Amino acid sequence: AGNRTFSMIKPDAVAAGNSGAILKMIEEAGFRIVALKKFKLSEERAGQFYEVHKERPFYNDLKKYMSSGFIMPMILEKENAVADFRKLIGATNPANAEDGTIRKLYAKSIEANAIHGSDSDENAAIEGNFFFSGLEQF
Ligand code: CMP
Repeated sequence: AGNRTFSMIKPDAVAAGNSGAILKMIEEAGFRIVALKKFKLSEERAGQFYEVHKERPFYNDLKKYMSSGFIMPMILEKENAVADFRKLIGATNPANAEDGTIRKLYAKSIEANAIHGSDSDENAAIEGNFFFSGLEQF
């Protein structure tokens, strides 16, 4: 029960062999994994996912990085899912992330920061629908 958020384990964390440890932290924090996939994004699809950042100086690098290896997008469910998940992952820049957070443990840099978490209920729905059909969201 509860509401939902969207997350994605990023290429640096999958390539480093940390996806299992990260999924374990997510489940131990009380999130139910509603849907999960593993595949590679094209640079074009990565650009679409991060379209809101297209005017940012880091947009081109971000597209390249997000298409550089396997990603694991997922939909998660828990009470207060969006806010609790952002607490679990920690600050965007791992240098600012609190001890015990996923990014503090596994992120390599502000760009290669191991994992994504939606910043609102509205974006959680938009981002989940980007990767999963309605039939995959039960
Ligand atoms: P996330 O918050 O999941 O979504 C936007 C991503 O852009 C962010 O994670 C980082 O991977 C990347 N990003 C954000 N800020 C910067 C930055 N200043 N320099 C490089 N990459 C960034």
